[in-house]
Amino acid sequence: MSYRMMSRCLMLLLVFHWAPKTAEAQEHRIVGTGSSVLLTALPTHDQTVINHIQWEYISSVPALSVVDYYGTGTEPIVFKSYKDRVIFYSSNGSLLLKNVHETDSGTYRATVNLNKIKARQTTLLVLEPVSKAQIQINSTVAGSSIELSCKVLIGKVQAIDWKKDGKPLPKNRCYQVSENFSLLYIPEAQKSDCGAFSCNVSNDISWQETSVNLTIEGIRPSLKLALEISTVALVIATTLAAGSGLGFIILCCQSEKRKLTGELWRWLVVFIHGLVCVSAILMFTAAVFWMQEEGFSTALVLYMIFLTGVIMVTLLISAVLAICPQRLQMFKKKTMHRVILDTAAPGGVILVVVFAIFLTQNIQHLQRKGCSPFFDGTAAILIAAAISLLILLAPFVWCKYQPCSFYAYFKAF
Ligand SMILES: *[C@@H]1O[C@H](CO)[C@@H](O)[C@H](O)[C@H]1NC(C)=O
Ligand SMILES: *[C@@H]1O[C@H](CO)[C@@H](O)[C@H](O)[C@H]1NC(C)=O
Ligand SMILES: *[C@@H]1O[C@H](CO)[C@@H](O)[C@H](O)[C@H]1NC(C)=O
Ligand SMILES: *[C@@H]1O[C@H](CO)[C@@H](O)[C@H](O)[C@H]1NC(C)=O
Ligand SMILES: *[C@@H]1O[C@H](CO)[C@@H](O)[C@H](O)[C@H]1NC(C)=O
Repeated sequence: MSYRMMSRCLMLLLVFHWAPKTAEAQEHRIVGTGSSVLLTALPTHDQTVINHIQWEYISSVPALSVVDYYGTGTEPIVFKSYKDRVIFYSSNGSLLLKNVHETDSGTYRATVNLNKIKARQTTLLVLEPVSKAQIQINSTVAGSSIELSCKVLIGKVQAIDWKKDGKPLPKNRCYQVSENFSLLYIPEAQKSDCGAFSCNVSNDISWQETSVNLTIEGIRPSLKLALEISTVALVIATTLAAGSGLGFIILCCQSEKRKLTGELWRWLVVFIHGLVCVSAILMFTAAVFWMQEEGFSTALVLYMIFLTGVIMVTLLISAVLAICPQRLQMFKKKTMHRVILDTAAPGGVILVVVFAIFLTQNIQHLQRKGCSPFFDGTAAILIAAAISLLILLAPFVWCKYQPCSFYAYFKAF
């Protein structure tokens, strides 16, 4: 036999020997950090007597020796970097890796009785389990485009799966996800987008699902504040209107003998003008918030100028009347001034009521675009209206049973 033939035979032998064995001799394992992994040196039911075994980590250059064992009666040699981290079973040659880290990933080879061909390889992938994701939402306002991000702090994420209300994302809305699925975009958020969004982050050894409730707001917080402020202003103004109506009735019906004058009257006027001033300031604030959100308009600016006038005049009247009432006569010398002073309070109440109704109606309409529980001022306004009505009706009821003048009612007041 020539040398060439011999080498060819050897090659054939090698291939024969190698081919069926390779599938079995290669194993892949995926485990979580901190776990223990048993690596086997021989296929199951293989009864080979172990005279010598060498365990190596072959993913590094050069390969690292892990354990060397020279048959019964000898102590296995555990190499330095694996001391206290491995348990070697001399009965079957298995190796237990304890408390594995990501750096332990790689291929381990067990060579039994120096038979390199039959050497068994195990490729280990050590993964950190994923931590619970955090979902961040960048906006909740209806009409805006919303971005939900699923953030994972620990662990290598291999897949992210989004769901809405526990079901796959609805097809009828054009939700989009980023390339690696970590972001979910909702274009032009609307009421139907309210619900529980969840992201399931996973890798081969673990998964975690996080859920967040998305509540679409019809309006921004500043408009919500504007709504609350204008409701309060409306309640004050409505009650004031009723109160002034009553005052007017009393004034008209009082017997000529005793006009309502003096201290009580003065403080009543101070009080009324003070309240008109407060409600006008509230409406001014609400108008500023409204302008911030809905933009600039001439009508609004004009309205705010009128309101400023009301605020100044009512403030002046109540201050002067409270501090030195004699001075007020001074202001009343010119007809023009008198007209302004006399119309400030009723005019202010009308301005406040009309604009407050406009604002509350519009903002409540906007609120319905979302699904957040919304502030409804209707109840407050109805109560205010009812109280006002009672105030106005009270003298009539009173007088029906006591056929006296309104003066009597006023005295009881
Ligand atoms: C090898 O022996 C150890 C200890 O006796 C045992 O825990 C392990 O399961 C055995 N491995 C195999 C592959 O039989
Ligand atoms: C939220 O993210 C989306 C998409 O990136 C962006 O278009 C939108 O302007 C963001 N909204 C806010 C309020 O930042
Ligand atoms: C997804 O890609 C973004 C950049 O496009 C990156 O910041 C983020 O960490 C990635 N997330 C994951 C889970 O891979
Ligand atoms: C999360 O994803 C993993 C991997 O795809 C899956 O096994 C698991 O059932 C999912 N969990 C839920 C709650 O859907
Ligand atoms: C979302 O809302 C539902 C009920 O409306 C509640 O049971 C659940 O705990 C909420 N989930 C979160 C993450 O707040």
